[in-house]
Amino acid sequence: MAARWDMEAVRAAFPGLAVRDEGRARLYADAPAGTQVAARCLERMNRALVESCANDGGSFRTSRAAEALMLEAHAGAGALFNAGADEIVFGLNTTSLFFAFAYMLSRDWKTGDEIVLTRMDHDANVAPWLTMAQEKGVTVRWLDFSPESFEYDYAALDGLIGPRTRLVACSHASNLLGTINDVARIVAAGRAAGAVTVVDAVQSAPHLPVDVKAIGCDILCASAYKFFGPHAAVLYLAPALRDRLTPLKVRPSPAAMPWRFAPGTPSFEAQAGTLGAIEHMAGLGATLGGADPAAPLRERIVAGYAAAIAHEAELMRVFLDGAAAIPGLTLYGLSSPNRLEGRVPTFSFRLPGKHPAAVAQALADENIFAWAGSFYAQEAAGRLGIGPGGGVNRVGLAHYNTADEVRRLLGALAAA
Ligand SMILES: Cc1ncc(COP(=O)(O)O)c(C=O)c1O
Repeated sequence: MAARWDMEAVRAAFPGLAVRDEGRARLYADAPAGTQVAARCLERMNRALVESCANDGGSFRTSRAAEALMLEAHAGAGALFNAGADEIVFGLNTTSLFFAFAYMLSRDWKTGDEIVLTRMDHDANVAPWLTMAQEKGVTVRWLDFSPESFEYDYAALDGLIGPRTRLVACSHASNLLGTINDVARIVAAGRAAGAVTVVDAVQSAPHLPVDVKAIGCDILCASAYKFFGPHAAVLYLAPALRDRLTPLKVRPSPAAMPWRFAPGTPSFEAQAGTLGAIEHMAGLGATLGGADPAAPLRERIVAGYAAAIAHEAELMRVFLDGAAAIPGLTLYGLSSPNRLEGRVPTFSFRLPGKHPAAVAQALADENIFAWAGSFYAQEAAGRLGIGPGGGVNRVGLAHYNTADEVRRLLGALAAA
């Protein structure tokens, strides 16, 4: 059975939360741009650099330890996505991984082929495909969302996807609107037409258990620095595509996973830290989510997310209640407390007569960390018409935030 949410224990697992500035606490409301790092991640990174600092492939102790750590990190990332260790590629960040895969995937695209992109996405899941489409004379079609409901018009998929569709790319959760999209539905439509399907899970992985088997996609990627880990990204690659794609690799490096799509020496410490972040979620599962500490890693991870989801729902309720009471605040995203399962705790809004940058500065003056702008969600910002006026203000919460922090944040917004 799940235990009561222990806010103090959860916060103690994030050393960054204890940092004070001239005696003032920090209020981190910048999670969608990057979360605070779990202690478990730091421990893992420290140990990697102290105890196994060598390249892999040697017969001596540190090299063997580096290789063992790399394999363990791939297995851990597999558990995070409900995939196998040999279906995982680590990279610097999601953007560079998508550019690399766009290059590899588009090698056999032909003039007159088509791809389908989705309008809510961060440009990391747009520009790589768009660039290759332009080079190859491939037509780009768009799945649009409603600027009133902040959801996709899924019925339009049938008209967008056809026999010449080579790729369908979509995002699990929007970094601007917070909407959780029905990616399984978009992927199913792409697969039915024989297209390669790509999911950007950068904004869902901090909040929901991601399951590539349930989604059914060929590629899925998330950035560890948005889920309590270091600056790195993890990509799932379905076995059929993994074996079919020609990798960008130097000739002497192994053609087997995990080396196949990892050119050059990887950041072993970032892989270790990513594993630590995943173990943090699993730790929540065992301590607060009711999972057996001896249960398989995936099971503990899912239980950890379930515990975090219940807490984040409470934070969302407090935020939405308070935001509704601020005169003239316009929220860009689902606002109903009855639709919390349809969103992550990322809230974009405008205050009447206030430039978003000025509001972000007023918050910063209170040691509240939050962003203004449109966050590289270029298509979505265009669709909403918010680009020219400085975008929006965005506050994004994570399971380490407290309801009191949300109230403090609302107070600062009301004062602004
Ligand atoms: C939804 C989404 N996708 C992709 C990215 C880019 O990730 P990275 O910085 O790892 O390239 C971001 C970053 O904010 C994002 O929010």
